[in-house]
Amino acid sequence: MPITGIYGPDDLASRPQGQVVSSPRDAPARTGPALPRPSLEWTPEVERATAALYDRVKHVIPPIEWPLMAPTIKAINELKRARGAVILAHNYQAPEIFHCVADIGGDSLQLAVEATKVEANIIVQCGVHFMAETSKLLDPDDKTVLIPDSRAGCSLAASITGADVRLLREKFPGVPVVAYVNTSAEVKAEVDICCTSSNAVQVVESLNAPTVIFLPDRYLATYVASKTDVKIIAWKGSCEVHERFKGEELRAFREADPSVQIIAHPECPPDVLAEADFTGSTAHMINWVRQKRPRRLVMITECSMADNVRAELPDVEMLRPCNLCPHMKRITLANILESLLTLREEVTIDPALAVRALRSVERMINLKN
Ligand code: 13P
Ligand code: SF4
Repeated sequence: MPITGIYGPDDLASRPQGQVVSSPRDAPARTGPALPRPSLEWTPEVERATAALYDRVKHVIPPIEWPLMAPTIKAINELKRARGAVILAHNYQAPEIFHCVADIGGDSLQLAVEATKVEANIIVQCGVHFMAETSKLLDPDDKTVLIPDSRAGCSLAASITGADVRLLREKFPGVPVVAYVNTSAEVKAEVDICCTSSNAVQVVESLNAPTVIFLPDRYLATYVASKTDVKIIAWKGSCEVHERFKGEELRAFREADPSVQIIAHPECPPDVLAEADFTGSTAHMINWVRQKRPRRLVMITECSMADNVRAELPDVEMLRPCNLCPHMKRITLANILESLLTLREEVTIDPALAVRALRSVERMINLKN
């Protein structure tokens, strides 16, 4: 069914004028003991040491570019061992990060679950700030969580504050609130449970309530509403990457080749999802490609993911309208190396807030499949 209502900051009369959502840029950055800088020269030894890694990405990184990346990749992998660090990378990270330096890759849910199992003392989160915050929340042993660029935000996380959630609760007393993990810890602390795009419908239905407030993504909310009888009240947030896709672009791909397969992320608008053969989280999309092995594929999501899949499955021809997430792209080999050298930038969360935010994330993770 269609969503029951949609609200934004302008609809909450008592939201203080001019209030801005706290930005990841404001996060305190702490430094740690620096290690000596490694040489970043391209030498025969670097070529030998990184040959197996190049083999993983040879279909998506031209040979001429490898000498520019390989010395940093080698240095990161050595420093990672010296520091006892683990690198977590989201599916939207560039192939040289995802396939060559990450220990664990995945969608938001997989990264959150893996963060609970990591034994290393340091996690370097290659993704956006809310993902690093989620890893920090789930860190039972007070590990150091680093993000190579703390300005890596997210248009969804920036669309809503904890105060907005409190105002929504006043407007809809007793209605449970589900927050997509693409939110700040401050928002997670105000809601009943979190969800990701992998489990959003399951989470909404787990509440056994006739109506649920689902925030902040209006399009994910619309998708969830189309899959459940629970009435959904949405928030006016959107992903600046996925909202740019248009149904007509997809129709043009299909008209040019009726055999083409189209898969899309549920953060896309409904006219885009209506054209897709499959809709799912980034991990569900990747699994779909592994199982179906389509000859020609249009992946409607952030474009580095198409490169990561093509590196693994070169026989699948990718046709893609390419939208990059500017926040994900703030993470580079150079700043990952810097992060390991200097232990910057450390993600910190106020402990009292963290206890409340953790409850919402753990409630999601503990949901039985
Ligand atoms: P996934 O949970 O599907 O990886 O999505 C995260 C995200 O930010 C998509 O834009
Ligand atoms: Fe946020 Fe969209 Fe970037 Fe994902 S792709 S991190 S939802 S801005």
